[in-house]
Amino acid sequence: MIVLGIESSCDETAAAITKDGREVLSDVIYSQADIHSEYGGVVPEIASRKHIEKILYVIDEAVKKAGITKDEIDAVAVTYGPGLVGALLVGVSAAKALAFAWNKPLVPVNHIQGHIAANYVAFKELEPPFICLVASGGHSHIVHIKSYGDFDILGATRDDAAGEAFDKVARVIGLGYPGGPKIDKAAKDGDVNAFNFPRAKSGSDFSFSGLKTAVINEVHKIEQRGGEVPKADIAASFQQAVVDVLVKNTVQKALETKVNTLCLAGGVASNSELRRQMDEAAKKNGLKLYYPPLRLCTDNAVMISAAGYYNFISGIKAGYDLNAVPALHL
Ligand code: KG4
Ligand code: ZN
Repeated sequence: MIVLGIESSCDETAAAITKDGREVLSDVIYSQADIHSEYGGVVPEIASRKHIEKILYVIDEAVKKAGITKDEIDAVAVTYGPGLVGALLVGVSAAKALAFAWNKPLVPVNHIQGHIAANYVAFKELEPPFICLVASGGHSHIVHIKSYGDFDILGATRDDAAGEAFDKVARVIGLGYPGGPKIDKAAKDGDVNAFNFPRAKSGSDFSFSGLKTAVINEVHKIEQRGGEVPKADIAASFQQAVVDVLVKNTVQKALETKVNTLCLAGGVASNSELRRQMDEAAKKNGLKLYYPPLRLCTDNAVMISAAGYYNFISGIKAGYDLNAVPALHL
């Protein structure tokens, strides 16, 4: 089964083709990050316009690079939420037009489900059940994947997503956008114990808004005293606070549910300390841990194509009235 996947929920315009949800035939990403970095974050209107410029080009490239013709495509899968409405609509409209013109089934994909499916592509042997920490710019969830189409959310952030906190803190200490990779790099020269930032938990959920505010207050205090902001120490101490919360909560959920396979997904899953410390914690607790290569952690269309395959074989299809759903839940 060959599935074309289309992704345009934020600032990556992407198209990819996979076979049977596990094998990558092509993977094309046009990243707008450089454009948005000038503004310190994603500007929705610019994102939509850039998607319109690039969408047909990336789809065309994906088909060419896969070495197939359109006739060999069995379904067109597309992210329809969550994400920026104008950005999502570009991918959804392109997918609808192609599905109609080529007379192929249209398969709707939830972006978060896509992030999880990146692990199926990276690890051929991986099968549900497993626990997945999905941490990206827009979401931080701990999900129990009971079967390919059956998910339980075990915990989530009450407020800011992990990636959002990385981006905001990076902006405050002047590292720029996207903040995650920049904090990751800066933290390597910093002391994780330089500042004792809060680790907040609320029942099954966690929170990053208090942590973000604590960092901002600390930076303002230093600036008001006329001191120089110790960027590396702030980055390291902040990153450690996020990693502590994510590792502790994810491992706890795995132990509680007695599911001993763990996966990481989403942009924040590329964080080097999260990967290292989750490795340590998994070993200590007898859990098997998977995390995709960096290219499959941040937004891409391979994951949408893979998730689309599993939706398609379980009979999930959309009509031509498919709309973008910015606040779509898992
Ligand atoms: O999954 P993704 O590409 O887009 C969304 O669905 O949101 O995630 C992007 C987020 C951004 O907030 C970015 O700062 C964060 O992932 N990120 C990282 C790293 N690389 C990307 N956060 C921490 N460490 C990283 N190395
Ligand atoms: Zn994403």
